[in-house]
Order: sequence, then structure tokens, then C-alpha cells
Amino acid sequence: MKKHLNHCIGLRFLDSEMIQIILKKAALIKQKKAIVDLSEKIIVQLFFEPSTRTRLSFEIATQKCKASPMVIDIETSSLSKGESLLDMVKNISAMNTDALIVRHSHGGVPHFISQQVSIPVINAGDGYHEHPSQGLLDIFTMQERLGDLSGKHILILGDIMHSRVAKSNIWGLKKCGAKVSVAGPENLIPSVIKEFDVDICENLDELLPTVDAVNVLRIQFERQHGISLPSVEDYRKSFGMTSDRQSLLKDHAIILHPGPINRGIELDSSVADGSRNVILDQVENGVYIRMAILALCLENQ
Ligand code: CP
Repeated sequence: MKKHLNHCIGLRFLDSEMIQIILKKAALIKQKKAIVDLSEKIIVQLFFEPSTRTRLSFEIATQKCKASPMVIDIETSSLSKGESLLDMVKNISAMNTDALIVRHSHGGVPHFISQQVSIPVINAGDGYHEHPSQGLLDIFTMQERLGDLSGKHILILGDIMHSRVAKSNIWGLKKCGAKVSVAGPENLIPSVIKEFDVDICENLDELLPTVDAVNVLRIQFERQHGISLPSVEDYRKSFGMTSDRQSLLKDHAIILHPGPINRGIELDSSVADGSRNVILDQVENGVYIRMAILALCLENQ
């Protein structure tokens, strides 16, 4: 495991080998066959958007790596006095901190910061762009249940347009050799998706019996900005993962959701809490994946 991670901005920018290295490192950590010791490292978290899972998971991962997590409260930071983001991150870096974890509503902000500071920057979700640690934990969870993903068929279902998770899943899964299909309302599937070498599903109920996993995405009501959505009832009828749809899946097929869930819209509670879902496995695995990312960024420095 000699390869080093300079930053973790997106799965688009990582080669297949590095993705496998991160997944293997996370597996060793989970099996207690690898110990990560980042004593005296200081990891700063900048969350410009709400989060429960990612923020806490990075905080727990940091502590389990014996490093110190520092969470900046954006509301009470000097940004409120007019300081620029650039000045802010340069000042944080000047305090000899060791890594920055950044979530922002604008795609490209973590990449921009990574060009301005000399410490590793980890993207915790930027706009509609990417959420690499989520993509990796989804892939890790799929591999745990399905084995090697090469040739496996994965469906990403829902609001593809506004989902950074969808983009990270697509880039990562393709690099693991999986076949990827997307499904959702026509106006929530961006035209750029055609460049991603994925199949766009035309008949969900015919596709479901062919897939090995379904990653169900949240409708991002906060990001619709003028896009006309079907009513909640129509959405559930056409694209919701209901018990009836679940029954169309192969016996071994699994259901994922990155959270938070809109219960009764994209995912019925009977499915969200049922035996095929691996949602809490995803959450647990997120800690191992984030420990692996921190280790590959900061070990041997
Ligand atoms: N999956 C995810 O990013 O959840 P949070 O928004 O709670 O971090």
C-alpha cells in the first residue's frame, strides 16, 4: 500500500488502482488487520451545508485514527465579518493544520481550495459535482454483499440531476467494471449523463429484475429551483421503491440509500427497514472508508 493520496476531490480523478487501494485499506481497518496512527495530526472540517452522517463519520474516523478533529462553525466564523473563503483557508493552513475536509453548495470549491493550500483537501460533497467518500462507501458495501463488481449491474434511481452521489457512484462503479443504469423523471436526468457511458432506463419495472443493486437517491427538494417535479404521489407511483417494486428484484439484489431518506416518496418504510436494505451497513462502512482516506492522505508524512 505505497500509493499516496494528495487530495480526495472526486472519483473521476482517481484511477482504478487507487480506488481498489482505498477499498482494501478500509477492509483491513474493518477487519482490525490495520491500525491507523495519525497522532498529533489536526484535521479541520468546514461544512457550509447541513450534514449528519458525513460530518460525524469524518469526526469519528479522525478520532479513531488518533488525530484531532476541529470543526469550524461557519455561522460564527470570520466569514460573517466579510473575510473571503481564500483568506480563511490560508489562515487555517498557516496554523500548521494537516488536512481540510470541505462540504460546499458550489461544485468546484474543494478543488479550488486544494490549489491554494499545501495540505490535503477532502471533498465531503460539493454542489451537484461529487461526494467521493459516499461513492466509495456505497461501492464498499456493494462489494461486501455482491463480491467483485465487475460485470454486476447497478441501478441508480431518482434525482440524478442534483445528486453528487450519483456522479461519484457512476465514476467509481465504472472503474470497478460494473454496468450502470440510471432511472428517474426525464427532467431530472441531465443530458451530460450520455457522456458517462451509462444506460438510461426507459421502463423501470422491466429493468428491476436484471439488476444486482439499486442505489435509491433522495429527491433534493432544496435544489429544484424552478424545475417542475411530478407530485409526490406521482413520483412514488412512477419511481418510488415500493414493496411491489422490491418484489421484482432478484433474490440476492440489495437496496442502498445514501440518506437522508424522504420516507414514502423515493423509498417506502417497508423497504427502508426491510431485509434487503443495507443502509445502516453503508453508514458503518463510511467510518472505515473515511479512515482509509485520511490514512492514505496523511500516513508517512
Ligand atoms: N449521505 C450524506 O451525505 O448524508 P449527510 O448529508 O447527513 O452528510
